[in-house]
Amino acid sequence: MKRHILITGGAGFIGSHVVRHFVHKYPEYEVVNLDLLTYAGNLANLRDIEQEANYHFVRGDIGDIDLVRSLFREHRIDGVIHLAAESHVDRSIRDPFLFARTNTLGTLSLLQAAREAWESLPTNTCRFHHVSTDEVYGALQPGEEAFCETTRYNPHSPYSASKASSDHFVRAYHDTYGLPVVITNCSNNYGPYQFPEKLIPLCIRNICANKSLPIYGKGENVRDWLHVQDHAEAIDEVFHRGRDGESYNIGGINEWRNIDVVKLLIRITDEELGRAPGSSEKLITHVTDRAGHDLRYAINADKLRAELGWSPKHTFEDGLRDTVRWYLTHKQWMEDVTSGAYERYYSEMYENRRS
Ligand code: NAD
Ligand code: DAU
Repeated sequence: MKRHILITGGAGFIGSHVVRHFVHKYPEYEVVNLDLLTYAGNLANLRDIEQEANYHFVRGDIGDIDLVRSLFREHRIDGVIHLAAESHVDRSIRDPFLFARTNTLGTLSLLQAAREAWESLPTNTCRFHHVSTDEVYGALQPGEEAFCETTRYNPHSPYSASKASSDHFVRAYHDTYGLPVVITNCSNNYGPYQFPEKLIPLCIRNICANKSLPIYGKGENVRDWLHVQDHAEAIDEVFHRGRDGESYNIGGINEWRNIDVVKLLIRITDEELGRAPGSSEKLITHVTDRAGHDLRYAINADKLRAELGWSPKHTFEDGLRDTVRWYLTHKQWMEDVTSGAYERYYSEMYENRRS
């Protein structure tokens, strides 16, 4: 069946993998990527597919409901995969209003436009897939059972509160207006094209540059790590085959303390750079902890496994080595996203297109 899919946030880290996955795997689909190109959005992440006939890029804000309505009409959108968000916890501590605007109100604008566009269509021909996070569940103590889909929401940061709120709106639109929805809650992703404000690319960059590796607190906080391509494949499964109105957890069953992730990265990166083993350990620097830092996340993904047969394909060590190699061979990408040159370039291009 030909589908017309609106992917939001497709120029970001996970979004670019999802866009590439859908454009390649489903040449019969039309894929429209709506992205505002904030500091985290980068069209260079999609350079290899930007000329594909089934791909269109639109620069714009998910909160601009008139724009979103017009995209639904113009492209006859029958599926949404919604990833656009402010995604970094530390930024949310500095600017919570931005997170509420983008993550909560932006999601509401998409839901409303979808509701209006799909009102007279059979529900089994449309789907709104909301991409969310495990952070909505709050934090676990060591030994506590992993989050499952029925775990009570208990967000702590402005980021996770804004995502939890958006999840609630998605459910409200399902229960109140019958909007066909699915939600996925995923753990920490890693892989190519991740903006170097996040732990793994930040550390790879700093190891290469012999700069300090900032570990918040003692480094004992635990995250569950999943390769971004495994996440893209899980989204594909849930978008096509997940049950209406359901949530699915996605995770790697791969819990690591931050300090151990950084030590593993040091081992791999030193090897790849031909440095003496462990020579970058001296760069580890314990810094002031993140406010309200969640101690541990762990995901129970049994439902996704049992219902849709999904399981991650990447092992952590191999996935991390491939990721390190990607960053080492894409130094210009790293240089561009940290110099701000690309932001200027795309802003100018966008302004020129409008005039
Ligand atoms: P990211 O920060 O790399 O990318 C976000 C993208 O959204 C960027 O391209 C940005 O330009 C775009 N965007 C921001 N505000 C926008 C707006 N108002 N209108 C249109 N586009 C806008 O984020 P990511 O890490 O790729 O995360 C993508 C989604 O997945 C988010 O919803 C996030 O909550 C969720 N998620 C992320 C992780 C993770 O580990 N990174 C894990 C689970 C869930
Ligand atoms: O769990 C899913 C979430 O994972 C997503 O919803 C978020 O969008 C994504 O940013 C990520 O959130 P985290 O806060 O877990 O990711 P981050 O890479 O910022 O941090 C990972 C861990 O490392 C966390 O415990 C904080 C710590 N950290 C992070 C940075 C940037 C450090 O110790 N030092 C650092 O410099």
